Amino acid sequence: MEDKFDILDKKIAEAQLGGGEKRIASQHEKGKLTARERIHFLMDEGSFQEIGMLVTHRSTNFGLDQQQFLGDGVITGYGNVNGRLTYVFAQDFTVLGGSLAEAHAEKICKIMDMAMKNGAPVIGLNDSGGARIQEGVVSLGGYADIFYRNTLASGVIPQLSAIMGPCAGGAVYSPALTDFIMMVENTSYMFVTGPNVVKTVTHEEVSSEDLGGASAHSTKSGVTHLTYANEIECINGIKQMLSYMPQNCEEDAPFVPYEGGDESRKQLSTIVPDNANQPYDIKEVIEATIDEGSFYEIHKDFAENIVVGFARLAGRSIGVVANQPAFLAGVLDIKSSQKGARFVRFCDAFNIPLLVFEDVPGFLPGTDQEWNAIITNGAKLLYAFSEATVPRITVITRKAYGGAYDVMNSKHIGADMNFAWPSAEIAVMGAKGAAEIIFKREIAEAADSEAKWKEKEAEYAEMFANPYNAAARGYVDEVIKPEQTREKLIAAFNMLENKVDTLPKKKHGNIPL
Ligand code: HXC
Repeated sequence: MEDKFDILDKKIAEAQLGGGEKRIASQHEKGKLTARERIHFLMDEGSFQEIGMLVTHRSTNFGLDQQQFLGDGVITGYGNVNGRLTYVFAQDFTVLGGSLAEAHAEKICKIMDMAMKNGAPVIGLNDSGGARIQEGVVSLGGYADIFYRNTLASGVIPQLSAIMGPCAGGAVYSPALTDFIMMVENTSYMFVTGPNVVKTVTHEEVSSEDLGGASAHSTKSGVTHLTYANEIECINGIKQMLSYMPQNCEEDAPFVPYEGGDESRKQLSTIVPDNANQPYDIKEVIEATIDEGSFYEIHKDFAENIVVGFARLAGRSIGVVANQPAFLAGVLDIKSSQKGARFVRFCDAFNIPLLVFEDVPGFLPGTDQEWNAIITNGAKLLYAFSEATVPRITVITRKAYGGAYDVMNSKHIGADMNFAWPSAEIAVMGAKGAAEIIFKREIAEAADSEAKWKEKEAEYAEMFANPYNAAARGYVDEVIKPEQTREKLIAAFNMLENKVDTLPKKKHGNIPL
């Protein structure tokens, strides 16, 4: 009789082989790693513990009784990332195309339930042909079981989805329900309906890559938050993202040891141009303020008029939201409002303090914006800031005009500390437009209308294009020199460290969706 230990060894070897040597080779030929290799690179060495290695499918339909694959096309388990407990599932495309059915879904649900009970992040490495066609409705049920858990886990534990191959049909909704989606260029795609269906229904001809590749989703739809040139870079990106996050909503993000020194940053004084209409790159302000090299930008190529990302300030994890004057003059529009709101809500859910740099000329005018609901979408950002209870600080570097002044984490909607640089202009609108409206008659009746307009513009600018009216009312707590920004922010975030703030009792709010 075969030795019992040998049986176990054989089963482990079989499970580790997935769909077999040939299929592993085909995965490599496509420029993809296998599910096991991905986990190997993600988890701290030797820490991964597999769960459900011997699970198999039960269906006997359409030839499924001919061969059973141990693990059923998904590797699940837990281990450490950066020394911290993390749960992971990796779909194995070499087994039935990584397709999801009853047992496969149960394995994912099991680790999600464990992650919730034990308060640790879940990482999904997606590479799947979607619902296993042979298993029918149990495949759909399996997806729904996962969607349900994604939703319940939202705001409790961080959930990250890396797309490393196909992710099509309803399968896209699990990543969509998680906090962040990452895609690998050229080897991954996501769409609800693929090119064939698109062609039949709309007569459009489009490739998988153009329809749902990393580039389309990072620049056009904004579905993916990050893209990477290859899988190793993507896995390193996951590790870095996790380093800014707490394990769950009850905890704080880890501190990185920091030794204080000279916190003044002279270079901040020369970034904002004298001419208020000249653009500058807000990322220079961010980089010069935060701990060196700590900025991890999210949604870099989408709605570039707002910049969001994680950073560290004196070792503390913070979320940065900043208008970008170098793109569309930093105006708020539909996409930038959505982008900002989603990031603010993530930070608030996971106790990550928010730092806002404000230089915003207002909302983008036009029929396109109005008809596509800038009202509803702009309200998302307003709502997200208003309900955030984490420490919140704003630095007004230049323009803070109109409704956008209110929206961008103003004191009025609960910001804890607001600083302004002397270059700040806080007003209902820009001086030129304001003069045109309120001095309309005088300008029209003047012998030299143009000169009169300029004179009135200067008058309005003199009165409002500064931070001092707002400071006189306490809407700005302190007007500071740019070089003092870092030291002021470190002191203020330290002061706010134990902030307690609660929202009125409710089941949940009704954010304008
Ligand atoms: C069962 C599947 C499968 C699936 C792929 N395979 N997708 N088996 N169910 N959904 C199998 C293939 O039969 C093949 O098996 C192996 O996986 C590899 O697939 P290939 O087609 O050879 O690979 P490739 O050429 O790289 O093409 C990958 C693919 C293609 C583009 C993903 O396989 C494909 O179009 N699959 C079907 C996609 C799909 O329509 N899924 C259902 C979506 S609807 P062998 O044994 O031949 O190697 C959906 C609903 C979810 O997911 C609803 C949730 C609410």
